[in-house]
Amino acid sequence: MTEQLLHEHNHEFLAFPKSFVWGTATSAHQTEGHAHNDWTRWEENPHHVWRGQRSGRASFSYERFAEDAELNHELGCNAARLSIEWSRIEPREGEFDEVALAHYRSVINAYRSRGARVMVTLHHFTNPIWFADRGGWERADAPKLFNRYVAHVAVALGGCVQWWITLNEPSLYAGLGYVRGVWPPGVRSKIRAARVLFHFMRAHRQAYATLHRACDHASHHTQVGSAVNMFSISNYEHSLADLFLVWALDWFFNHLFLDLTRHHHDFIGLNYYFHRRLERRPGTWFGSLVSARLTEQRETSDIGWEIFPQGISEVLHDVWSTYHLPIYITENGLATENEDKRARFIVAYLKEIYHTIAAGVPVRGYFYWSLIDNFEWEKGFAPRFGLVHVDFATGVRTRKPSSRVYEEIVRGGGISHRLLSFLGHGVHVGTVLRNV
Ligand code: FCB
Repeated sequence: MTEQLLHEHNHEFLAFPKSFVWGTATSAHQTEGHAHNDWTRWEENPHHVWRGQRSGRASFSYERFAEDAELNHELGCNAARLSIEWSRIEPREGEFDEVALAHYRSVINAYRSRGARVMVTLHHFTNPIWFADRGGWERADAPKLFNRYVAHVAVALGGCVQWWITLNEPSLYAGLGYVRGVWPPGVRSKIRAARVLFHFMRAHRQAYATLHRACDHASHHTQVGSAVNMFSISNYEHSLADLFLVWALDWFFNHLFLDLTRHHHDFIGLNYYFHRRLERRPGTWFGSLVSARLTEQRETSDIGWEIFPQGISEVLHDVWSTYHLPIYITENGLATENEDKRARFIVAYLKEIYHTIAAGVPVRGYFYWSLIDNFEWEKGFAPRFGLVHVDFATGVRTRKPSSRVYEEIVRGGGISHRLLSFLGHGVHVGTVLRNV
């Protein structure tokens, strides 16, 4: 049966808009491994990463990027999100390495020549050593230094980039690096975290202007945004006090950065992984957000992250009603060794996204995290988020069964009835694939 017929005859086929952007996401440090950056140095301490692991050559993508682009193409994707490593491009303050820039031009072109538009992240958690050593994001001149790099990159690569992401998850970076201290620079100070966040806001606003100035011309209108990590929050009590608390926590964790950088986004990049529920301390006005998996035995990933597809819909509605901008899901994915679970995850989340689009929310694209297994920061190599398995000793890539489910959705432009029935338990991805 042709795809056309499938659309016409099966009313349960959930067809996405024809223009929908289908992609996968990665980041440089997680797939290329060690560089002259603060994360590489952080990994030298055996207590910082699970089992003392170090990124090393990670998924070997510095050498094998063409294979990655080919795999993305095999999935049928028309887009890819990747990041470029600031410390390779500007290894010493003010000195730009044209060889590194040429490398990233080749990476981007490897995707483009296979029909994928590229979304480039300029900062995905890592900083050059020289930048970290002079005070990192706490310094008042950090936005200026970041923008010198952005301006240079914009001129060198602007013509081949469709979407720019200035910063990946600025609030999470500030929280893990400066409040909890589990990421570099390992600081525990809310005041210092606030300063970092403030500088991120300035850096984003400046980079937004820099990128448009450098890249916009008659034939090309650059799209600039950032990727924010938002979580859905359940509130079971519905008392006035709880409603207020949820509103306040939602604003602080999910909206602060976007609100303070309003009018400097062409789209919202949403990374969705988490669901939290409000738990009130009895007899007080305080409450905290806890993971529902602890209280409700929800299904989780291998690293205990709750699977909660409805949450993505709630967050998408919230983002749209607040900012009235098109939305790209710049990350969403599952760490698991269980391919049935990953396949169900993909179908379940995309089904929610389909209904959210049908309800009028302009979700323009979806980038599954991640194309390949990679180095998951302080958790090391154990969590496997990839659609493609990576042998970390050799770099050999092997497609996983769930990648075939994603491919079917991407190539068909939607979710078939057969895949929807897979949502019920007890169906194995192998069985579903045999019937394709
Ligand atoms: C996001 C990060 C990404 C990856 C996924 C699992 O918060 O942006 O680098 O670690 O989580």
